[in-house]
Amino acid sequence: MRAAVAAEPGGPEVLSLTELPDPTPKAGEVLLAVAATAVNRADLLQRAGNYPPPPGASQVIGLECSGRIIALGDGVTGWQVGDEVCALLSGGGYAELVSVPAVQLMHIPDGLDLVSAAALPEVSCTVWSMVFDRAPAAELTVGERFLVHGGCSGIGTMAIQLAKAQGAQVFATAGTEQKVQACRDFGADVAINYRSADFVEVIAAETGGEGIDVILDTVGAKYLDRNLAALAVGGRLAVIGLVGGAVGELNLAALLAKRATIHAAGLRGRPLEQKAAIVAGTEAHVWPLIAAGTVRPVIDRVLPLADAAEAHRVVQASSHIGKVVLVTG
Ligand SMILES: NC(=O)c1ccc[n+]([C@@H]2O[C@H](COP(=O)([O-])OP(=O)(O)OC[C@H]3O[C@@H](n4cnc5c(N)ncnc54)[C@H](OP(=O)(O)O)[C@@H]3O)[C@@H](O)[C@H]2O)c1
Repeated sequence: MRAAVAAEPGGPEVLSLTELPDPTPKAGEVLLAVAATAVNRADLLQRAGNYPPPPGASQVIGLECSGRIIALGDGVTGWQVGDEVCALLSGGGYAELVSVPAVQLMHIPDGLDLVSAAALPEVSCTVWSMVFDRAPAAELTVGERFLVHGGCSGIGTMAIQLAKAQGAQVFATAGTEQKVQACRDFGADVAINYRSADFVEVIAAETGGEGIDVILDTVGAKYLDRNLAALAVGGRLAVIGLVGGAVGELNLAALLAKRATIHAAGLRGRPLEQKAAIVAGTEAHVWPLIAAGTVRPVIDRVLPLADAAEAHRVVQASSHIGKVVLVTG
């Protein structure tokens, strides 16, 4: 099979199409002919040598895909050769073939094509598991206030739409006026350009000083104190990204006074049983919203897998809105 592989750690230019041995499905896995995959921020870290795959995962980059089942490993039930699916992966998506545990497969939501479906697994499973699921997730409920940083990231575009669909009042931050407008178009009630305004001040003014119930944070240390300042009493801060650093100072007195909770988690390294539960929960709760047209995948552009380097340049420049998809055909 052909795969877009980083010959050595480095910039986008190290990615090129390479011939690799075909994977074979182990017990409990299926082999997919990949139709499309999508770029995630973590892929850039892996390409640069800073985010090694978990033990046992493919060395090939790629955390999600869509495709058709072409072989079943021992013990797989409920799926047939020929089924069209999308999948959450621990790696291996930037390839013509990938082997994936059957519990990480999802049906293609009604009304969606295979290319669009490739943009869904990572962002919908991450947002579902961190924002909406039961504790230790943030359990955002109807009528609460929700803030996502990076509102035009792949994650942000899904988080805004899902929170709105669930009846929350939605706040989002972004770094350009074009992105701020796009956040509003996706459903944000309040979109804040973090380069020209302090989100804590805007939120205090917009909420009469009450603050935000749930924050989905992709920035980390740089925003820790300000996220805490923006939280309401009983608020929940869910940290999923660290573009602003990993080590910060936490004012425990402020956390205590607000009876607030901070929760951080990654999806990729979770045990199989947890991934299976997240995938099932996402399909049960998010897919109907997509089938109804209430929530849609936001795709910035579609490129051939051979142009994976160009896709990484686009994402690295943060000039995209939503997902960059790569197609094998
Ligand atoms: N924990 C998990 O399981 C999990 C799963 C998926 C994603 N994530 C994390 O969630 C975040 C979003 O992922 P994604 O794939 O959706 O990202 P993405 O589409 O690449 O978007 C990232 C956005 O972050 C903003 N940003 C702010 N500071 C930045 C910086 N120093 N460098 C680069 N971008 C910066 C940019 O928007 P502006 O132009 O508005 O600044 C950029 O568009 C990432 O941090 C990723 O690692 C975590």
